[in-house]
Amino acid sequence: MLLSKILGLFSNDLSIDLGTANTIVLVKGKGIVINEPSVVAVQTGKGGKKKLLAVGHEAKKMLGKTPGNIEAIRPLKEGVIADFEVTEKMIKYFIQKSHSRNSFIRPRIIICIPYGLTQVERKAVKESAMNAGARDVILVEEPKAAAIGAGLPIQDPKGNMVVDIGGGTTEIGVISLGGLVRSKSIRVGGDKFDQAIVDYVKKKFNLLIGDRTAEEVKIEIGTATVPEKEMKMTIKGRDQVTGLLKSLEISSKEVREAISEPLKEIAAAVKEILEIMPPDLASDIVENGIVLTGGGSLIRGLDSYLSKIVKLPVFVSEEPLLAVAKGTGRMLEEIELLQSISLND
Ligand SMILES: Nc1ncnc2c1ncn2[C@@H]1O[C@H](COP(=O)(O)OP(=O)(O)O)[C@@H](O)[C@H]1O
Ligand SMILES: [Mg+2]
Repeated sequence: MLLSKILGLFSNDLSIDLGTANTIVLVKGKGIVINEPSVVAVQTGKGGKKKLLAVGHEAKKMLGKTPGNIEAIRPLKEGVIADFEVTEKMIKYFIQKSHSRNSFIRPRIIICIPYGLTQVERKAVKESAMNAGARDVILVEEPKAAAIGAGLPIQDPKGNMVVDIGGGTTEIGVISLGGLVRSKSIRVGGDKFDQAIVDYVKKKFNLLIGDRTAEEVKIEIGTATVPEKEMKMTIKGRDQVTGLLKSLEISSKEVREAISEPLKEIAAAVKEILEIMPPDLASDIVENGIVLTGGGSLIRGLDSYLSKIVKLPVFVSEEPLLAVAKGTGRMLEEIELLQSISLND
């Protein structure tokens, strides 16, 4: 115990929010050192061996634009590990990039993972970090990290409800006394909004656009409820009939229509959790409301949209894209907090 305390003074312990869209790494005492897309570009050589070309921002620029033997991959796309080898490479890369080389002591690493990962996937994440030089790896559940990051008093004997809308998943959790009382993870998040926009534009305008364009449209003019002033944006794509490149205008009203299905799915999942809530915890939530975290919660009007459906107060946390990372970082600073809530596997 004493030895590990002394070791702790010299090592740069890390916390990692391993998101399906973005990975954020914090170094104890230093704050955020990496905030990059969870994307890896690999080149497949002879014999199927994969060589890492780029990770993060560099790799995201390549998504949808790669030639034959190069692939830009989002290894955690649907909230599951699609490619173990690439996931391992990405985790190792981020750890090595953030771990100070002149520190001779191996770091302790806390990793927040999508809640829906299977035991096999959790083990793979843990092993990747061990292989990258960790002396100890602790996995934490995303809804708890999100709730701590959003500043909720999760140790208190009352119901705290958080909905984290990430890229690949939406994770809903109700936490009391440091434990997850109710939780649910659905494979609907920002990516589904993007896909819904691609499909809508294809159907309505016969225009093919890429995922990146759809994401820009969503961020630029996406709304969940009618805004004070509707917005417009020009998009470029390929006309499915003529095969020619074409640009046209899309309105926020159309985008709202496009993303209405995934929005409904998120609302239905939140409702489902509320319906199975023990009454005493339900009364806390009626009083304190629901907190939204994750990049998906930045869609304009999403708080009032959900509030109207579930008839409860709904708030977006401060800096929702950083909530999970901040929560995981706090666990690094307050080890007792961590011990009371980490996953024991
Ligand atoms: N301003 C915004 N409006 C709507 N969606 C956004 C905005 N900013 C980011 N996003 C979306 O948030 C998602 C990423 O959120 P994040 O919490 O980082 O996900 P994850 O934890 O799964 O990595 C992406 O789908 C991205 O398009
Ligand atoms: Mg996340």
